[in-house]
Formats: sequence, C-alpha cells, structure tokens
Amino acid sequence: MMVRAGPSTLAAIVLCAGKGTRMKSERAKVLHPILGRPLGYYPIARAFELGVSRMVVVVGHQAPAVEASLKASFPGRSLQFALQANQRGTADAVRSAEAALQGHAGPVLILYGDVPLITLEFLRSLVEPHQRSKGPLSITRMLVENPTGYGRVIRERGAAVRVVEEKDCSERQRKIRECNAGLYIADPDFLWAALRKTRPSNAQRELYLTDLVQEAAKKHKVAVATIPAEDAAGVNSREDLAGCAAVLQERINAHWMKEGVSLADPRSAFIAEGTTLGPDTEVAAMVSILGDSEVGRGVRIGQGSLIVRSRIAEGTEIKPYSLLEDSIVGRGCVIGPFARLRPGTELDEQVHLGNFVETKKTRIGKGSKANHLTYLGDAQIGAGVNVGAGTITCNYDGVQKHPTILEDGVFVGSDTQLVAPVRVGAGAYIGAGTTVTQDVPPMSLTLSRAPQTIKEGWVLKKKGG
Ligand code: UD1
Ligand code: CA
Repeated sequence: MMVRAGPSTLAAIVLCAGKGTRMKSERAKVLHPILGRPLGYYPIARAFELGVSRMVVVVGHQAPAVEASLKASFPGRSLQFALQANQRGTADAVRSAEAALQGHAGPVLILYGDVPLITLEFLRSLVEPHQRSKGPLSITRMLVENPTGYGRVIRERGAAVRVVEEKDCSERQRKIRECNAGLYIADPDFLWAALRKTRPSNAQRELYLTDLVQEAAKKHKVAVATIPAEDAAGVNSREDLAGCAAVLQERINAHWMKEGVSLADPRSAFIAEGTTLGPDTEVAAMVSILGDSEVGRGVRIGQGSLIVRSRIAEGTEIKPYSLLEDSIVGRGCVIGPFARLRPGTELDEQVHLGNFVETKKTRIGKGSKANHLTYLGDAQIGAGVNVGAGTITCNYDGVQKHPTILEDGVFVGSDTQLVAPVRVGAGAYIGAGTTVTQDVPPMSLTLSRAPQTIKEGWVLKKKGG
C-alpha cells in the first residue's frame, strides 16, 4: 500500500493575485481590512495553524503592496511569495507556485485568499480523508440557498465529475445548489501535470483551477468534503466583505464573553483576532481593540476608545474616547477621557493621564500624573511626578528630537514649557508659567515668569472716565 505524507509534509498555496474587480477599488481585494487585518491574512493564518511545512502565497495585482502587508501580518513566519505576472485565472495562479514548491513531495492544500471564515477544524478534517482516498484530488462543496457566482458541482451517478462556473452554466446547471467552496488538496505530480493541460475555453477566457476536477475524475473518484456554507463564504463585493466581517466579529465576541469578558454592545465591539482579554474586563459600546493587543483582567474600556497593538495591565481604566497605539499601560492606571497615547508610550503602575493629554515615546513612572491638556514627547518621567495642566515638552528644534527628563517627585506647575534637551532633578518645583531652558538641580524652585504689575484704575483712565 502506498503511504501518503502526513500533515507535516503538507504544503499550502494561497491565491492572492486577483484584482477583485467586483470590489470597485483602487486597492487589491486581499488587502481590504476585516477587523483590522487584511482579508488575505485569514486563510493564511488557518493554514499556518494546520502546521503546513511550506506556505506559498501567489501575488500579482499590486504584488509589492500585497507582499508587504502579508509579510507584516506574520512576523517571524516563513512565507514564500510566487508572482503570477498576468492574472489569467486560478489554474494559472496555482501554476505560478510550482517553482517555489520544487522538491516538495507531499500533498498540497490550495486555498483562495478571499475566504476569511474557514476554520482550522475544517482544514483538519480535510487532510485525513485525502490520505485515505485513492484519488489525487480532494475538493470541497457547500450547499447554498443562493448559488449565484459560485461554480456548480456536476455529478454523474453520484460521483463529482466536473465543476462548471456560473458563466458557463446551462439553464439547468444554474439551478444546482451544490457549489464548489474552493478548498482543495492535490497530490503534486497530478497537480502540476493537470495544470499544464488547462485551456481557456470558457466564457471568461481564463484558466480555471476547477478544470482539475474533470481531469482527476477520468481515472479516480474525486473525494468531496462538505463545509458549512457560512464558513466558506467568499468575498467578491463590499457587501460580502461587510457580511464576513460581521460573522467574524460575532465569533470572536462570543468567544470572549465565554471567557468572562463583558461587552456592553457586542454589535459595536470590534476585537481583532490575535487580541487577548482577561476575565472581568468590561468593554463599553463602540470600542475597537486591534492588532495583537493584550488586555489584562478587570480592565474597563470606555465608550468610543480605540486600542491598537497595545498592552493594558490588570485593573486599569481607559475612559471614553481614548486612542492608544503601540503603547504599554501598567496596572491600575486611569487614562482619558480623550487621551492619546502614541507609539512608544510606557506607563508604570497607577499613572493618571487625563483629558487632552498626548504622549509619544515617553516612559512614566509609578503614580505620576498629567491630568489635563499636556504634550509629553521623548520624555522620561520618574515616579510620583505631578505634571500641571498645559505642560508641553518642546522636544523638536526643527531638525532633531531631544529628550526631557523629569526625575522622581518633580512638581511641574501649569503652563510650563520644557525646552529639550533638559533635565529636572528629583523633587524640584517648577513654578506655573515657566519656560525651562536649563537643567534644574534637585529640590530647587525654578521660575521664569515676569513679576506681576498692577496699575490701579488704569481702565477708567484709558476710557477717559
Ligand atoms: C472561484 C471558483 C469557483 C468557486 C469560488 C468559491 C474558479 C475558476 N472558480 O470562483 O468554482 O465556487 O471560487 O469562492 O476557481 N486569483 C488569482 N489569480 C487569478 C485569478 C484569481 O490569484 O488569475 C485569486 C483571487 O485573488 C482570489 C481567488 O483566486 O483570491 C479566487 O478568484 P475569484 O476570481 O474570486 O474566483 P471566483 O469567481 O470567486
Ligand atoms: Ca471569489
């Protein structure tokens, strides 16, 4: 008996070269975002989870942009890209991956880049029956209410013998509701040989991958797996994109609610795949948590907040309408409302940042506060520092960025400008309205404002009264 290769020697090809004409977009279809990730990310992620030994993504339309975006979506994973210079159809796309898979002897999983809802469980369920079947090709079907746009599975005496694309269907075939879901496993020898035989003799003048079904059926039974129609939905239009996004959102939100997270309004909570949330965390309405964010237990995230690629530790409160990007927030902090934490913000425990406070590349120590109208950029702030309302680090001299250092226990009066590079020593006081241009020694008081003068009755005199 012939021994087939197991999943460890399974390779994957994901087709991402098409333009996506029906999207009516300047942007390649697989780059349209769903919950903060490109559409093409999802099938690739599922194939990686299956444990494929090689991953080839076929790119063509806007290849450099698609390649860059997908590479960035899988840091540290080895993705190979194959170029399909002209998009002559799905068979031609798979053929473009042949050189990249030279020497690979195991079966090849083929997925389309526009089917974001496929599950790992389903992919797992495909592998074993293919190994058992004697044929070189396994396909996937789904039963749908409305088959418009999908290829129809044609059967003779019960066996699948062909797939006919919508545009090539006869009146009778168009009524068939058993459709090609577009997931395949093929043995490489058969695959490469059969692809060479495909011809563009169809309504779209394209090379159809689906022609392989007819080729395989000549000698063997084609194994047919059944996938729930919802899981195999393909994105061809903006409507499909929104529909798939809604399903994905529902699945992710259901998962986190089971894990003990409260969502005030699951319909307006957008939590990306890859984000994690601790139990007893409460997410208000209209909140997005994207990228590989990590939110600890008992965190409260206020209405309208957007959190991207950030870490928020236990017990912290993010008040409404705050924006956090590439930031780390320690335990028990209070952020916002209307706070903006830009990339490189790192907060220790119990830090308070209030309304209209902006931070960038700034570390803030335990228990420090900046509660109102402040900009802190390229700053290192110690523990127990109080930054008064309207304080600004003047970190940019028009050419370079410079650091500001506020040591432990510093008190910065309101409306202070810190002209960087500058250091304020531990425990020092800066009077309100000061422009700090020189380093300040510890435990000192610095003032730079002009003394106040009062002219009694000046207004009356001016008005001739
Ligand atoms: C395809 C199937 C159809 C199936 C449906 C399931 C074919 C001929 N038809 O139709 O039977 O029911 O998927 O969703 O395969 N692509 C390339 N290069 C190309 C053309 C397409 O990489 O030259 C990529 C696209 O980027 C896309 C995928 O292949 O990710 C599928 O192409 P698409 O044009 O969407 O095929 P469908 O018409 O949906
Ligand atoms: Ca499609």
